[in-house]
This record gives sequence, C-alpha cells and structure tokens, in this order.
Amino acid sequence: MSITAIRGFNDILPGDSDIWRRVEEEAYRIFSGYGFSEIKTPVAEKTELFLRSIGETTDIVEKEMYTFQDRHGDSLTLRPEGTAPVVRAYIEHKLYTAPVSKLYYTGPMFRYERPQKGRYRQFYQIGAEVMGDESPRADAEALSMLMSFFANIGVAGVELQINSLGDANCRPAYKEKLKAYLAGVKGSLCENCLRRMDTNPLRALDCKASGCIEATKDAPSIVDSLCEGCASHFGTVRKYLKLSGIDARINPRMVRGLDYYTKTTFEITSTGLGSQNAVAAGGRYDGLVKELGGPETPCFGFAIGMERVALILKETSAISKKPLTVFIALGEKAEEASVAILKAWREKGLKVMEDFSPGSLKSRMKRADRAGARYTVIMGDDELAKGEVSVKDMRTSAQEMLSFEAAAQRISLG
Ligand code: HAM
Repeated sequence: MSITAIRGFNDILPGDSDIWRRVEEEAYRIFSGYGFSEIKTPVAEKTELFLRSIGETTDIVEKEMYTFQDRHGDSLTLRPEGTAPVVRAYIEHKLYTAPVSKLYYTGPMFRYERPQKGRYRQFYQIGAEVMGDESPRADAEALSMLMSFFANIGVAGVELQINSLGDANCRPAYKEKLKAYLAGVKGSLCENCLRRMDTNPLRALDCKASGCIEATKDAPSIVDSLCEGCASHFGTVRKYLKLSGIDARINPRMVRGLDYYTKTTFEITSTGLGSQNAVAAGGRYDGLVKELGGPETPCFGFAIGMERVALILKETSAISKKPLTVFIALGEKAEEASVAILKAWREKGLKVMEDFSPGSLKSRMKRADRAGARYTVIMGDDELAKGEVSVKDMRTSAQEMLSFEAAAQRISLG
C-alpha cells in the first residue's frame, strides 16, 4: 500500500505554486514599501510561549495544538500562529531598541482543526507586525496596506469588519456586564461556553453553536462599553480608514480566537470561500510584549491565510502563468548550439524546457503537448545554418520560421 500525506497537510503542486510565489512576491513588494523587513522564526517553540500568549481557555490552546515531548522531556509545540514567536524573538534579541520595528514573516502554522475547504492542519500565513507604535494611525495604515495587497493581487469582493475590544481599563467592566447577561440565558448555551463563562465570557460571542448564536443576539455591545481612551482610539482608526478610501463595517461581536488582543481587532472576509471565509485577520495587542517579559510595547499586526487566497485566485484565475516553451533540437550540431541559445533566452526571463528524448519528431511534439507547452520551437541543422527556428503555436497549430531574436519575442508574449 502506498503512503499518503497526513490528513489536513497538503502538497502545493506545480501550477498552484506559481500562484503562491506571485502572492508572496507581491506581499514582500508592498510590505517593504511601508518599511517592513522579514523575520524568520523556528517552526516549533516551547509550549509555554503559546499558553501565556494565546490564552489557556482558547480553542487553539485547549484542543488544537500539536504538542509533544522531545527526547529530553521538554514540551514543544508546532507554532499555531506567528505573533507569539515574533514577540518572543523581539524580546530575546532586544529589537525594542529601535523606536518602531515593522516585521513580516511567512511560513507554515499548525492547528489540529477539522479539515474542510479552506481549513487545514498545516496552513501557511503571511503575517506582519508593527511593534512600538500606539498611534491609531498605525492600525489604519496597516489595514490600508493590506487592502492594497488584496486589490493588487486581484482578490475582489473583500469586506473589512472591525471592532474594538477595549483595554485593561474598560474590558473588565464589560466582561462583568456580559457575564451577567450570559447568566440570564444559561439554559441555551453550549457546554463549552458554560464552562468558560466565568473565565472567558467573550468566547460565547464567537461560538458557532446555533443555541449560543441565538442566545447572545441581544448581548451588550463592547463598542458601547469602551472607556474614553479606547473610544477615541477607535474613532481615529475609523477616520483614517475613511481618509484612505476604505469602507469598514463595525462588528461588535467579533472577539477573535486569541486572547492577546486590545483595542482594534479586524477580519477581512471574501465571498466565494464558503464558511471559512476569513482571508486575513488581526488587531492590536498592546499588552503582549510586557506579558512575555519585555518592555511596555504597543503593537498591531495581522496574518493572511495563504491557502484561502490561493483558492480564490485559482477559481478566478486572476494570476496568469508564464507560458512554457519546449525546445526540440534535431541533430548533433543543433543540440550543441541549443545550449547557448537557451541560456540567452532564460536570461531574458523566458520559461523554456529542452526536450532531450530520442524518438521521432512526431513523438517529441506529443511529449511537448503533454508537458503543457504553449509553444514548441524546433531547430534542425538546416535552420541553425540560417540562424532560424520553427515556432509552433500549440493552441492554433500555426507554424512559422523566425530568427532567434524574433522567436524569443514571440514566445515571451504568451
Ligand atoms: P488567525 O485569525 O488565527 O490570526 O489567523 C489568521 C488567518 O489565517 C485567518 O484569517 C485564515 O485566513 C488563516 N487560517 C487560520 N487558521 C487556518 C486553518 N486551519 N487553515 C487555513 N487557514 C487558516 C492569527 O493567527 C494572528 N496571529 C494574526 C495576528 C497577527 N494578529 C496580530 N498579529
């Protein structure tokens, strides 16, 4: 019996990987224009890091982490997200000596969730963190950068939902208000929400159980319970989003699945993905750096779900692939000359594969077709002597003789 991949872990195959690369390149291009630099952190961390940052009563920590003991009995966890590791590195390497650190990262994350379309156990994120800036303008600027990214790669139909979760000043009072409300609808809550009602009542607003959704319909809104500082911060975020030409819908029920957030939180959803429709999410986390042993550092960040973006682009084919050309040299002289010709074409950025197989021209043309060639270029000793090649358009079957230079021009057109 052959061995298959682990459930919820995917191979990214050629074709799809072209889309991935284009998306990553576009993110790097746009993010670096806003002053971000890349950071790479390890794929596993000490388990304690995630317990202390994501929150012990979140779904991620309670049931989704890949945690195991190494040979020395230390508890390690495959990172379920990228923010906590970046904060750990920020403190460990004293990056806080710079006034503001803008960091982005990309790589696999691991959560033991039930796999379905757009939800996997190993998935990739592109994340960005602005560390050391408390200004609401930093939130609005990062959101504006993210919306530009989606527009540039051709993801349409996105909606930005924002909320504010308050801070240590106003959230405790809101929690009490919510707890009192939940006590009144106890009978309709699921077991999970009942259990977490005292420690983490906000989770009930995020619960997908139909009873909980119904029971919390009239729950008090956090936006109405913000202190003056948080309300003004939120107001400025909204003002600057407007100035950037970005529409945002306020969703006071959006509490996010991680406990480190303060003030602004957001999600960007896209139509056409089904139930797993969040393509990016994040928010402000002003307390996390201090909580993990660093200096007081207000931060804002987000992560984009790569698989979900790739699914959208694949369905809308908004990203076009470079056309493939197969080059067939006939005869020893042509074979030898092909080395320099193809080297020059590839340096021009053309995508050319030489067919080295023996066999008749007919069978080699068939191989080119099966390889997905957009053009097949044939060069025999006679053509070589004239400085020409025969270019066949595989879609129309039209064939023409062109100089090396003109052939390179033609196949670059796609
Ligand atoms: P998150 O909302 O847990 O936030 O994940 C961000 C995005 O990752 C989601 O919107 C989704 O697109 C994608 N994603 C999450 N889980 C899966 C999954 N199982 N399969 C496929 N895609 C998934 C965070 O991770 C925070 N660290 C974001 C952040 C950065 N907040 C501040 N800074």
